[in-house]
Amino acid sequence: DMAGPMMQMPDGRMIQPQIVLLREGTDTSQGKGQLISNINACMAVVDSIRTTLGPRGLDKLVHDDKGVTTISNDGATIMKLLDIVHPAAKSLVDIAKSQDSEVGDGTTTVVILAGEFLREAKPFVEDGVHPQNIIKWFRAAARMAVDKVREISVSIEGASPEEKSELLKKCAMTTLSSKLVGGEKEFFAQMCVDAVNTLDQDLLDPRMIGVKKVMGGSMRDSFLVDGVAFKKAFSYAGFEQQPKYFENPKVLALNLELELKSERDNAEVRLSDPSKYQEIVDAEWNIIYDKLEKCVASGAKIILSRLAIGDLATQYFADRGVFCAGRLQEEDLVRVTKATGAKVQTTVNDLNDEQLGSCAVFEEKQVGNERFNLFRGCPASKTCTMVLRGGAEQFIEEAARSLNDAIEIVRRAVKNAAIVPGGGAIDMELSRHLRDYARTVAGKGQLFINAFAKALEVIPRQLCDNSGFDATDVLNKLRQKHASGDPSGANYGLNVNDGGIMDTYEAFIWEPALVKINAISAACEATCLVLSIDETVKNPRSEGADGQPIHAPGGRGGRG
Ligand SMILES: Nc1ncnc2c1ncn2[C@@H]1O[C@H](COP(=O)(O)OP(=O)(O)OP(=O)(O)O)[C@@H](O)[C@H]1O
Ligand SMILES: [Mg+2]
Repeated sequence: DMAGPMMQMPDGRMIQPQIVLLREGTDTSQGKGQLISNINACMAVVDSIRTTLGPRGLDKLVHDDKGVTTISNDGATIMKLLDIVHPAAKSLVDIAKSQDSEVGDGTTTVVILAGEFLREAKPFVEDGVHPQNIIKWFRAAARMAVDKVREISVSIEGASPEEKSELLKKCAMTTLSSKLVGGEKEFFAQMCVDAVNTLDQDLLDPRMIGVKKVMGGSMRDSFLVDGVAFKKAFSYAGFEQQPKYFENPKVLALNLELELKSERDNAEVRLSDPSKYQEIVDAEWNIIYDKLEKCVASGAKIILSRLAIGDLATQYFADRGVFCAGRLQEEDLVRVTKATGAKVQTTVNDLNDEQLGSCAVFEEKQVGNERFNLFRGCPASKTCTMVLRGGAEQFIEEAARSLNDAIEIVRRAVKNAAIVPGGGAIDMELSRHLRDYARTVAGKGQLFINAFAKALEVIPRQLCDNSGFDATDVLNKLRQKHASGDPSGANYGLNVNDGGIMDTYEAFIWEPALVKINAISAACEATCLVLSIDETVKNPRSEGADGQPIHAPGGRGGRG
């Protein structure tokens, strides 16, 4: 019956109101209960990564339904792999991702902080405090904390280049100390600093740092090439006769096939007149010889192509003291051309010096079971390549992620050279600062600021827990030290080696101020977002079902 209920208007008319029903299956939950359940979901997610924080944190092994395994300590990586479906908890994945892209480190910290802010907010919500009140004061507290980080951070701007490199290395070491490669943090920190130092210091483009992973060997066999390096894909007959070392060679980059059709796997030439066969073969040989001649005549000593360079070409080049490599990966060819200044050619007609690139030294080198082509001292742009070695694939993958974090940190520190002491020192100091401030605030505000201040202590507490020390004891000592008024007290954090406390600034456990600033603001924003949602509407259409919302008077199963 489509007539539906009728309604009488004040003027006596009868009208039929349109009732928009939520589609069947739509689920809505509302109010305080929903908010609390969102907070709980977030806290549960945080619990899955809190044990990875710090140098003594454990790694996680995540495997998906396809059987792909990843070992990682990186907060953002784990969060991405967890496949979180809860809508509120997804905001934690977002802040981990954004911390990763904005700063490159501190992704575990940002998630743990957000979880703790929510834990502190929960009792207020349960007591019926309006979330907007909590939000207002949390935001104010976050602003104060960020201002304080700026105030106490130490700039390394004025330092000499050598000193600066040394300081950057300390920051990289702090980042690496919590990772699988932590045992070799000095070695890798140096590599990261050297890598960033080879870049154009105005651009600091991280894409100009290549990373190549070669299974086998030990971590210490990893090395940095001040230029481009890539794995050789194929080797053809005649290849061994080619020279493998050049000084100041010209480089020709092609997107052109130098291979006879008959050399290819599926070559097929259909002929109606068999006597034509030789003609066709001759013509093809003439064409390819013409191309090869032009390549060599250009003066290039290194010839690279995106496409195949076959046996005939390889032997031809070998006989003329020229090196060649075909079937380069796109990204490798791009980096070589950027670095050497070569311009990719699709034809070999009219080759001239302008289209060729150059480098100081080219060599082919054996690394493990792979052959690597190395281009050092490239004039056109500053680039370098890290060649990573290690026993297992997952290990090298995680090492690459960790080095990426460290490179990001060094890059940020070069641009924005302010640092703060780590190991929970900065967090304790911010906490003390906010508590001092809270004393001057009347009314409820005091409670909220204190809650925020308490939440900041989660970082040193978690570092203690993860190192197996008594957090209550250490936190008491840290609180005392930070409240003591002793000027160096502000730098005291956890000594993860003996469970005592120490001046982590003196111990060179440094973090870029930016990591903390971004972590605190992003965690606070995520918290406010979760606190401001008191209704979740589950729309079945977004689950892949078709159709429009049902506009019908009456109907089944819908809830108002
Ligand atoms: N040697 C050390 N002693 C004490 N604390 C340290 C030391 N090295 C690092 N830390 C602390 O460990 C914390 C960082 O841990 P971790 O690198 O696991 O997490 P994250 O940086 O937040 O996240 P991710 O690295 O996964 O993006 C920082 O608070 C840092 O100050
Ligand atoms: Mg880190």
